[in-house]
Amino acid sequence: MFNSAKILTDQFDRVHKYLRISLTEKCNLRCTYCMPAGGIQLSPKSHLMSHEEVYQIAKIFVQNGVNKIRLTGGEPLVRKDFTQILAQLSHLNVTLALTTNALLVDQYIDDFKKYHLNKINVSLDSLKAGKFAQITRRNQFQKTYDNILLLLNNGFEVKINTVLMKGVNDDEILDFINLTKDLDINVRFIEFMPFDGNKWNQKQLVSQQEIINIATERFGNKLIKLSDGPNYIARHFKIEAYKGQFGIISSVSNPFCDVCDRIRLTADGKIKNCLFSNIETDLLAKFRAGEPLEPLIYQAIYHKKAVRAGMDNFDKLKDPNRHTNNRSMTAIGG
Ligand code: GTP
Ligand code: 5AD
Ligand code: SF4
Repeated sequence: MFNSAKILTDQFDRVHKYLRISLTEKCNLRCTYCMPAGGIQLSPKSHLMSHEEVYQIAKIFVQNGVNKIRLTGGEPLVRKDFTQILAQLSHLNVTLALTTNALLVDQYIDDFKKYHLNKINVSLDSLKAGKFAQITRRNQFQKTYDNILLLLNNGFEVKINTVLMKGVNDDEILDFINLTKDLDINVRFIEFMPFDGNKWNQKQLVSQQEIINIATERFGNKLIKLSDGPNYIARHFKIEAYKGQFGIISSVSNPFCDVCDRIRLTADGKIKNCLFSNIETDLLAKFRAGEPLEPLIYQAIYHKKAVRAGMDNFDKLKDPNRHTNNRSMTAIGG
């Protein structure tokens, strides 16, 4: 039965107050681990939420208890009406956040400030220009790095997302940690996750334990474990006397689903109750038909599985057949 007081609560009593909205499936980079080499089949524009629909649907979530909205993509800043979307969402009583590759952020600094978007997570998988180009298939390291510094100089709270892949960028773990010496930044090392079309291979996985081992070997007792917040997905550490910190997001070797408070809305208006779920609930169609969304939201959240859409062990997670009906990461938004 639909119970309006518990619309965001699932069968395991997890309450989902954190909404991630993907604004577009398009991206101006082509990261190998995210996007299939040939790109993806894009939805026709009429199938995507307009800026007004993003606002109206987000408002329904907020009225029912959502208190944080993260805008994702693809790359959210390639959407021509991004500022309009941000301006509208700023009227809601929520914390606003963004995940971006930072290529366009210099064009939006004033808008971020004006509409109180202060939490910005930036993807950066290498500190070497050549390696960056190899991973992203675009030669844009310097622009990305300069824009990260621009964000920091303007007082934004910046996290760096680094997807680690063995033999590709795992030799840069200490370089990334060293970045936290003088920059007040939070670097998160992310275990490479399997999605449709990303050619995931277990051999490329760099696990949480391997990262901790590398940091311990280099920093010894200067490596400090920090406490993690109530709905953490990263385990946090810092090096004594360094300005910033780092974390590890270990969805593969050590999932954190028991504290998951996230719900996702795709650019074409569908709820995904888990990053790994291939079951979607079409909110946009119901919204366009003028029907109430609350019962659908409730059903979608209530039936969320305990762990990774039912892939509760490593053997299930690494079975490629379980990923074929999910979207590629660029169409989920992380
Ligand atoms: P904050 O905690 O709000 O700073 O954001 P975040 O780290 O959740 O968001 P971001 O978009 O920066 O994602 C960083 C990495 O975490 C990406 O690789 C995401 O795919 C992954 N991630 C985000 N949310 C989830 C989640 O609910 N489950 C899993 N397994 N991974 C997630
Ligand atoms: N595994 C782990 N993280 C991924 N991301 C994209 N694809 C993957 C993957 N296969 C991360 C990127 C981006 C965030 C939204 O998702 O680092 O910052
Ligand atoms: Fe939540 Fe699914 Fe991520 Fe687990 S895998 S934390 S249930 S979104």
